[in-house]
Amino acid sequence: TGLVTLDPGYKNTGSTTSAITFLDGEKGVLRYRGYNIEELAEKASFLEVAYLIIFGELPDQASLTKFQTDVTNHTLIHEDMRKIFDGFPTTSHPMVVLSSLISVLSTFYPGSMESNRSDEEVYMSIVRLIAKVPTIAAWSYKNEMGHPVNYPDNSLNYGARFLKMMFALPTQEYDIDPVMVSALNKILILHADHEQNCSTSTIRIVGSSLANIYASVASATNALSGPLHGGANQQVIEMLEAIHSSGATIDEFMEKVKNREMRLMGFGHRVYKNFDPRAKILKKACDDILSKMGIEDPLLDIAKKLEKIALEDEFFIERKLYPNVDFYSGIIYRAMNLPTDMFTVMFAMGRLPGWIAQWKEMLEMKQPIGRPRQIYTGENERSFVPMSDRK
Ligand code: CMC
Repeated sequence: TGLVTLDPGYKNTGSTTSAITFLDGEKGVLRYRGYNIEELAEKASFLEVAYLIIFGELPDQASLTKFQTDVTNHTLIHEDMRKIFDGFPTTSHPMVVLSSLISVLSTFYPGSMESNRSDEEVYMSIVRLIAKVPTIAAWSYKNEMGHPVNYPDNSLNYGARFLKMMFALPTQEYDIDPVMVSALNKILILHADHEQNCSTSTIRIVGSSLANIYASVASATNALSGPLHGGANQQVIEMLEAIHSSGATIDEFMEKVKNREMRLMGFGHRVYKNFDPRAKILKKACDDILSKMGIEDPLLDIAKKLEKIALEDEFFIERKLYPNVDFYSGIIYRAMNLPTDMFTVMFAMGRLPGWIAQWKEMLEMKQPIGRPRQIYTGENERSFVPMSDRK
């Protein structure tokens, strides 16, 4: 069986080659298909970036128009699928509803289950996912609120359509706020891919068994839901709220972190050991957006104080702990009126193109099925003990 190298958490093991995302953790560089994240967040639309990540090049006008039209034409979900929402208790976490219903999509599109999928079928499943995930996401929120769902308004762009599905009520007018739409666009772009993180490795491993795309994306969504991964953005806000309401000083809180009673959520990263370029953009975006919307959020002040103290503290310096993407995104979501349990759903919406691109690349590379080895540490061979002789 040969020698097995042990690397728990795959800290030093490359699982694949990939041409999608370049990340330099020492220099704080993140590029999708060669384009710096800073430039894309400033100049591109989310669907343009999704196209870039999935198909490898920035689309020309005709390709972008076709992609946008295809996505817009598939924003509805089957009416029978809408009924499934009624079966979830209103206490359901929207992330669980999202991953369940992404799985369910394969029952409505059985073509995805066939092992010999045509390119057209693959393209359509990509379009369907990008089109329908915002609808499912917004409806999972409506389910939680006990409010009627809003059907997608296809006269709007991707971000505005999502916000309207989330926040419009039958009882009042809903005005789209362009500041919110542009903040959402930026935040989705910043989350769109991040090479071989936990959820992305999950999709490559699940997909390598030739499981269908919906099953694969649902697995990635579940992987993202954990508090050490995408769930961290919700944890950051809960942490800031707890500090705010407890009346504890920031120094007292930091002492607890250093005593390892808790982690400073939104800090630290497996790969970035200098700074997370996404956090840098989001910190600035956070200031801009809150001031444009005229919001003063005490949690932003606490976050900035925590960051300042942490960046000057030996404990954090020694361990190279810096704010990550989740540290400021939650404050922007709050300004957009998103409830905390929707934060990870937003992360999933943003990460979707990355998952799809990695799934597609993995299949095109004909990557062998993912099957890590182990080093066995259990009992040696022993004989079965009859019940009467067991102690
Ligand atoms: N607060 C306090 N101490 C920390 C933190 C933190 N946030 N992160 C790491 N450390 C310490 C840790 O205690 C350890 O110290 P020591 O060696 O003395 O015991 C050292 O730093 C190394 O930590 P690690 O857990 O071995 O590092 P890792 O690469 O396995 O974990 C991480 C990376 C992101 C899971 C971790 O930094 C963490 O738990 N951060 C908080 C959760 C978070 O913000 N997650 C979002 C990550 S970015 C977006 C995403 O992936 O979704």
